[in-house]
Amino acid sequence: MATLLRDSGARAQLIDGKAGGQIVDEAARAAASALTLDLGRAPALAVVLVGEDPASQVYVRNKVRRTTAAGLTSIEHRLAADTSREALLALVDQLNRDDAIDGILVQLPLPDHLDATEVVEAIDPHKDVDGLTARSAGALVQGAPGLRPCTPSGCVWLARQALGDLTGKSVVVIGRSILVGKPAALLFLQENCTVTLAHSRTRDLPAVCAEADILIPAVGRPEMVRGDWIKPGATVIDVGINRIDGAGGKPRLVGDACLSEAIEVADFVTPVPGGVGPMTIAMLLANCCAAAAARAGRSRPEALAEILPA
Ligand code: GUN
Repeated sequence: MATLLRDSGARAQLIDGKAGGQIVDEAARAAASALTLDLGRAPALAVVLVGEDPASQVYVRNKVRRTTAAGLTSIEHRLAADTSREALLALVDQLNRDDAIDGILVQLPLPDHLDATEVVEAIDPHKDVDGLTARSAGALVQGAPGLRPCTPSGCVWLARQALGDLTGKSVVVIGRSILVGKPAALLFLQENCTVTLAHSRTRDLPAVCAEADILIPAVGRPEMVRGDWIKPGATVIDVGINRIDGAGGKPRLVGDACLSEAIEVADFVTPVPGGVGPMTIAMLLANCCAAAAARAGRSRPEALAEILPA
Protein backbone atom coordinates (compact mmCIF):
# COMPACT_ATOMS: atom_id res chain seq x y z
CA MET A 1 0.00 0.00 0.00
CA ALA A 2 1.31 3.46 -0.91
CA THR A 3 2.46 5.45 2.10
CA LEU A 4 0.23 8.31 3.18
CA LEU A 5 3.03 10.17 4.93
CA ARG A 6 4.22 13.51 3.56
CA ASP A 7 6.97 15.90 4.61
CA SER A 8 5.60 18.90 6.54
CA GLY A 9 8.80 20.92 6.42
CA ALA A 10 9.03 20.60 10.23
CA ARG A 11 9.36 17.72 12.74
CA ALA A 12 6.06 16.00 11.94
CA GLN A 13 5.05 14.03 8.91
CA LEU A 14 1.60 14.85 7.53
CA ILE A 15 -0.91 12.01 7.14
CA ASP A 16 -2.54 12.53 3.74
CA GLY A 17 -6.26 11.87 4.19
CA LYS A 18 -7.06 12.68 0.57
CA ALA A 19 -4.82 9.82 -0.57
CA GLY A 20 -6.25 7.69 2.27
CA GLY A 21 -9.78 8.43 1.06
CA GLN A 22 -8.77 7.31 -2.45
CA ILE A 23 -7.40 4.01 -1.10
CA VAL A 24 -10.61 3.32 0.84
CA ASP A 25 -12.80 4.44 -2.11
CA GLU A 26 -10.86 1.93 -4.24
CA ALA A 27 -11.49 -0.85 -1.71
CA ALA A 28 -15.21 0.06 -1.71
CA ARG A 29 -15.14 -0.04 -5.52
CA ALA A 30 -13.67 -3.57 -5.46
CA ALA A 31 -16.26 -4.66 -2.86
CA ALA A 32 -19.11 -3.08 -4.86
CA SER A 33 -17.93 -4.80 -8.02
CA ALA A 34 -17.83 -8.24 -6.32
CA LEU A 35 -21.27 -7.65 -4.76
CA THR A 36 -22.75 -6.51 -8.08
CA LEU A 37 -21.67 -9.82 -9.66
CA ASP A 38 -22.93 -11.81 -6.69
CA LEU A 39 -26.26 -10.05 -6.07
CA GLY A 40 -27.15 -9.00 -9.61
CA ARG A 41 -27.33 -5.34 -8.58
CA ALA A 42 -24.99 -2.73 -7.16
CA PRO A 43 -25.09 -1.79 -3.45
CA ALA A 44 -27.39 1.23 -3.13
CA LEU A 45 -27.08 4.25 -0.83
CA ALA A 46 -30.01 6.61 -0.23
CA VAL A 47 -29.19 10.11 1.02
CA VAL A 48 -31.86 12.40 2.46
CA LEU A 49 -31.17 16.14 2.62
CA VAL A 50 -33.74 18.43 4.25
CA GLY A 51 -33.36 22.14 3.62
CA GLU A 52 -30.56 24.21 2.13
CA ASP A 53 -27.71 24.27 4.66
CA PRO A 54 -24.77 25.23 2.37
CA ALA A 55 -22.18 22.93 4.04
CA SER A 56 -24.59 19.99 3.85
CA GLN A 57 -25.25 20.68 0.17
CA VAL A 58 -21.53 20.58 -0.64
CA TYR A 59 -21.16 17.40 1.42
CA VAL A 60 -24.12 15.66 -0.25
CA ARG A 61 -22.88 16.64 -3.73
CA ASN A 62 -19.48 15.05 -2.95
CA LYS A 63 -21.20 11.99 -1.50
CA VAL A 64 -23.26 11.44 -4.66
CA ARG A 65 -20.21 11.90 -6.90
CA ARG A 66 -18.01 9.47 -4.98
CA THR A 67 -20.81 6.90 -4.51
CA THR A 68 -21.35 6.73 -8.25
CA ALA A 69 -17.60 6.72 -9.02
CA ALA A 70 -17.17 3.68 -6.73
CA GLY A 71 -19.85 1.76 -8.66
CA LEU A 72 -22.60 2.01 -6.03
CA THR A 73 -26.09 3.24 -6.86
CA SER A 74 -26.84 6.68 -5.41
CA ILE A 75 -30.41 7.69 -4.60
CA GLU A 76 -30.98 11.27 -3.52
CA HIS A 77 -34.00 12.77 -1.79
CA ARG A 78 -33.91 16.56 -1.44
CA LEU A 79 -36.75 17.87 0.70
CA ALA A 80 -37.86 21.44 1.42
CA ALA A 81 -36.72 23.05 4.70
CA ASP A 82 -40.34 23.10 5.94
CA THR A 83 -40.89 19.33 5.39
CA SER A 84 -43.10 17.95 8.15
CA ARG A 85 -42.02 15.33 10.69
CA GLU A 86 -44.66 12.97 9.28
CA ALA A 87 -43.46 13.37 5.69
CA LEU A 88 -39.83 12.74 6.65
CA LEU A 89 -40.67 9.68 8.76
CA ALA A 90 -42.83 8.34 5.90
CA LEU A 91 -39.87 8.67 3.52
CA VAL A 92 -37.53 6.86 5.95
CA ASP A 93 -40.16 4.11 6.28
CA GLN A 94 -40.42 3.80 2.50
CA LEU A 95 -36.60 3.51 2.22
CA ASN A 96 -36.55 0.92 5.02
CA ARG A 97 -39.05 -1.22 3.12
CA ASP A 98 -37.31 -0.90 -0.24
CA ASP A 99 -35.32 -4.12 -0.61
CA ALA A 100 -33.10 -2.58 -3.30
CA ILE A 101 -31.69 0.00 -0.84
CA ASP A 102 -28.82 -1.05 1.43
CA GLY A 103 -27.88 2.17 3.22
CA ILE A 104 -29.84 5.19 4.43
CA LEU A 105 -28.21 8.43 5.47
CA VAL A 106 -30.19 11.40 6.73
CA GLN A 107 -27.88 14.39 6.51
CA LEU A 108 -27.45 16.27 9.78
CA PRO A 109 -28.10 18.85 11.09
CA LEU A 110 -31.84 18.82 10.39
CA PRO A 111 -33.93 22.04 10.49
CA ASP A 112 -34.89 23.02 14.06
CA HIS A 113 -38.50 21.79 13.92
CA LEU A 114 -37.33 18.19 13.28
CA ASP A 115 -36.01 15.88 16.02
CA ALA A 116 -32.78 14.30 14.72
CA THR A 117 -32.83 11.51 17.31
CA GLU A 118 -36.36 10.49 16.37
CA VAL A 119 -35.55 10.47 12.65
CA VAL A 120 -32.27 8.55 13.07
CA GLU A 121 -34.03 5.98 15.29
CA ALA A 122 -36.56 5.38 12.52
CA ILE A 123 -33.79 4.02 10.25
CA ASP A 124 -33.60 0.22 9.94
CA PRO A 125 -30.37 -0.68 11.87
CA HIS A 126 -29.36 -3.02 9.02
CA LYS A 127 -29.27 0.05 6.75
CA ASP A 128 -27.75 2.44 9.32
CA VAL A 129 -24.55 3.24 7.38
CA ASP A 130 -23.94 6.26 9.66
CA GLY A 131 -23.81 3.92 12.68
CA LEU A 132 -25.95 6.37 14.68
CA THR A 133 -28.97 4.34 15.82
CA ALA A 134 -29.16 3.09 19.42
CA ARG A 135 -28.80 -0.46 18.05
CA SER A 136 -25.53 0.38 16.25
CA ALA A 137 -24.22 2.34 19.23
CA GLY A 138 -25.11 -0.56 21.55
CA ALA A 139 -23.32 -3.05 19.29
CA LEU A 140 -20.22 -0.84 19.41
CA VAL A 141 -20.33 -0.76 23.22
CA GLN A 142 -20.71 -4.55 23.30
CA GLY A 143 -18.00 -5.13 20.69
CA ALA A 144 -20.68 -6.97 18.70
CA PRO A 145 -20.81 -6.84 14.87
CA GLY A 146 -22.51 -3.74 13.49
CA LEU A 147 -22.09 -0.61 11.41
CA ARG A 148 -19.69 1.93 12.95
CA PRO A 149 -19.82 5.74 12.56
CA CYS A 150 -17.81 6.88 9.54
CA THR A 151 -15.65 9.76 10.80
CA PRO A 152 -14.33 7.88 13.87
CA SER A 153 -13.63 4.81 11.69
CA GLY A 154 -11.61 7.10 9.43
CA CYS A 155 -9.63 8.40 12.44
CA VAL A 156 -8.72 4.87 13.55
CA TRP A 157 -7.73 3.87 10.02
CA LEU A 158 -5.46 6.93 9.60
CA ALA A 159 -3.83 6.34 13.02
CA ARG A 160 -3.16 2.72 12.01
CA GLN A 161 -1.58 3.82 8.73
CA ALA A 162 0.87 6.05 10.63
CA LEU A 163 1.54 3.87 13.68
CA GLY A 164 0.58 0.27 12.86
CA ASP A 165 -0.74 -1.68 15.84
CA LEU A 166 -2.26 0.76 18.36
CA THR A 167 -2.20 -1.61 21.35
CA GLY A 168 -1.29 0.16 24.60
CA LYS A 169 -1.28 3.69 23.16
CA SER A 170 -2.79 6.40 25.32
CA VAL A 171 -5.54 8.22 23.39
CA VAL A 172 -7.20 11.48 24.39
CA VAL A 173 -10.39 12.33 22.49
CA ILE A 174 -11.63 15.91 23.04
CA GLY A 175 -15.40 16.20 22.51
CA ARG A 176 -18.26 13.89 23.52
CA SER A 177 -20.58 14.13 20.52
CA ILE A 178 -22.66 11.16 19.37
CA LEU A 179 -21.34 11.58 15.81
CA VAL A 180 -17.61 11.58 16.65
CA GLY A 181 -16.31 11.84 20.24
CA LYS A 182 -18.11 8.96 21.98
CA PRO A 183 -17.79 6.44 19.13
CA ALA A 184 -14.13 7.43 18.56
CA ALA A 185 -13.38 6.66 22.22
CA LEU A 186 -14.99 3.21 21.89
CA LEU A 187 -13.29 2.41 18.57
CA PHE A 188 -9.84 3.24 19.98
CA LEU A 189 -10.70 1.14 23.04
CA GLN A 190 -11.43 -1.73 20.67
CA GLU A 191 -7.88 -1.23 19.31
CA ASN A 192 -6.60 -1.90 22.86
CA CYS A 193 -5.77 1.75 23.54
CA THR A 194 -6.10 3.40 26.95
CA VAL A 195 -8.70 6.07 26.27
CA THR A 196 -9.55 9.37 27.98
CA LEU A 197 -12.69 11.16 26.79
CA ALA A 198 -12.17 14.86 27.55
CA HIS A 199 -14.75 17.63 27.07
CA SER A 200 -15.60 21.26 27.84
CA ARG A 201 -15.71 20.61 31.62
CA THR A 202 -12.44 18.69 31.78
CA ARG A 203 -10.07 20.23 34.33
CA ASP A 204 -6.67 21.37 32.99
CA LEU A 205 -7.30 20.18 29.44
CA PRO A 206 -3.79 21.09 28.19
CA ALA A 207 -2.23 18.83 30.85
CA VAL A 208 -4.61 15.97 29.98
CA CYS A 209 -3.79 16.34 26.28
CA ALA A 210 -0.06 16.35 26.97
CA GLU A 211 -0.34 12.73 28.18
CA ALA A 212 -1.67 11.51 24.81
CA ASP A 213 0.24 9.33 22.37
CA ILE A 214 -2.71 9.98 20.04
CA LEU A 215 -4.70 13.21 20.37
CA ILE A 216 -8.11 13.51 18.67
CA PRO A 217 -9.60 17.00 18.92
CA ALA A 218 -13.27 16.93 17.80
CA VAL A 219 -14.89 20.06 19.20
CA GLY A 220 -15.23 22.60 16.37
CA ARG A 221 -13.07 25.31 17.96
CA PRO A 222 -10.56 26.77 15.52
CA GLU A 223 -6.92 26.09 16.52
CA MET A 224 -7.80 25.47 20.16
CA VAL A 225 -5.08 22.85 20.65
CA ARG A 226 -1.73 24.65 20.86
CA GLY A 227 1.74 23.22 20.35
CA ASP A 228 2.45 23.07 24.10
CA TRP A 229 -0.63 20.85 24.64
CA ILE A 230 0.99 18.12 22.53
CA LYS A 231 3.43 15.50 23.81
CA PRO A 232 6.64 15.49 21.72
CA GLY A 233 6.39 12.65 19.21
CA ALA A 234 2.59 12.29 19.52
CA THR A 235 0.11 11.74 16.69
CA VAL A 236 -2.63 14.35 16.17
CA ILE A 237 -5.76 13.26 14.27
CA ASP A 238 -7.67 16.52 13.86
CA VAL A 239 -11.43 16.14 13.29
CA GLY A 240 -12.19 19.88 13.35
CA ILE A 241 -13.13 21.68 10.14
CA ASN A 242 -13.59 25.38 10.94
CA ARG A 243 -14.07 28.26 8.50
CA ILE A 244 -12.29 31.41 9.68
CA ASP A 245 -11.36 34.77 8.13
CA GLY A 246 -7.85 34.43 6.73
CA ALA A 247 -5.51 37.06 5.29
CA GLY A 248 -7.41 39.85 3.52
CA GLY A 249 -10.73 38.55 4.89
CA LYS A 250 -10.56 35.47 2.61
CA PRO A 251 -12.22 32.44 4.26
CA ARG A 252 -9.80 29.71 5.29
CA LEU A 253 -10.35 26.20 6.70
CA VAL A 254 -8.50 25.31 9.91
CA GLY A 255 -8.68 22.40 12.30
CA ASP A 256 -9.17 22.23 16.07
CA ALA A 257 -5.35 22.08 16.40
CA CYS A 258 -2.99 24.86 15.35
CA LEU A 259 -1.24 23.08 12.45
CA SER A 260 1.85 25.32 12.31
CA GLU A 261 2.55 24.64 16.02
CA ALA A 262 1.52 20.96 15.97
CA ILE A 263 3.99 20.05 13.21
CA GLU A 264 6.87 21.40 15.33
CA VAL A 265 6.07 19.01 18.21
CA ALA A 266 4.20 15.94 16.98
CA ASP A 267 5.57 13.10 14.84
CA PHE A 268 2.39 12.69 12.79
CA VAL A 269 -0.39 15.20 12.10
CA THR A 270 -3.47 15.15 9.85
CA PRO A 271 -3.73 18.50 8.04
CA VAL A 272 -6.96 20.50 7.61
CA PRO A 273 -8.11 20.44 4.90
CA GLY A 274 -7.05 17.06 3.48
CA GLY A 275 -6.87 14.98 6.67
CA VAL A 276 -9.84 13.33 8.37
CA GLY A 277 -12.41 15.09 6.12
CA PRO A 278 -12.00 12.96 2.98
CA MET A 279 -12.12 9.74 5.04
CA THR A 280 -15.77 10.14 6.12
CA ILE A 281 -17.37 9.54 2.71
CA ALA A 282 -14.88 6.75 1.99
CA MET A 283 -15.94 4.91 5.16
CA LEU A 284 -19.59 5.54 4.28
CA LEU A 285 -19.10 3.72 0.96
CA ALA A 286 -17.33 0.86 2.76
CA ASN A 287 -20.19 0.67 5.29
CA CYS A 288 -22.78 0.59 2.51
CA CYS A 289 -21.00 -2.37 0.87
CA ALA A 290 -20.79 -4.11 4.27
CA ALA A 291 -24.52 -3.48 4.81
CA ALA A 292 -25.37 -4.86 1.35
CA ALA A 293 -23.37 -8.04 2.05
CA ALA A 294 -24.86 -8.54 5.53
CA ARG A 295 -28.44 -7.96 4.31
CA ALA A 296 -27.91 -10.62 1.62
CA GLY A 297 -26.48 -13.08 4.17
CA ARG A 298 -22.98 -12.86 2.66
CA SER A 299 -19.73 -12.48 4.59
CA ARG A 300 -18.05 -9.09 4.57
CA PRO A 301 -16.30 -8.50 1.20
CA GLU A 302 -12.59 -9.43 1.26
CA ALA A 303 -11.64 -5.94 -0.03
CA LEU A 304 -12.93 -4.37 3.20
CA ALA A 305 -11.03 -6.65 5.61
CA GLU A 306 -8.25 -4.11 6.26
CA ILE A 307 -10.57 -1.09 6.11
CA LEU A 308 -13.45 -1.45 8.54
CA PRO A 309 -12.87 -1.98 12.26
CA ALA A 310 -14.10 -5.40 13.45
N1 GUN B 1 -23.25 15.89 8.98
C1 GUN B 1 -21.91 16.04 9.10
N2 GUN B 1 -21.30 14.84 9.15
C2 GUN B 1 -22.27 13.91 9.06
C3 GUN B 1 -22.26 12.48 9.04
O1 GUN B 1 -21.23 11.81 9.14
N3 GUN B 1 -23.49 11.90 8.91
C4 GUN B 1 -24.64 12.60 8.82
N4 GUN B 1 -25.79 11.93 8.71
N5 GUN B 1 -24.68 13.92 8.82
C5 GUN B 1 -23.50 14.56 8.94
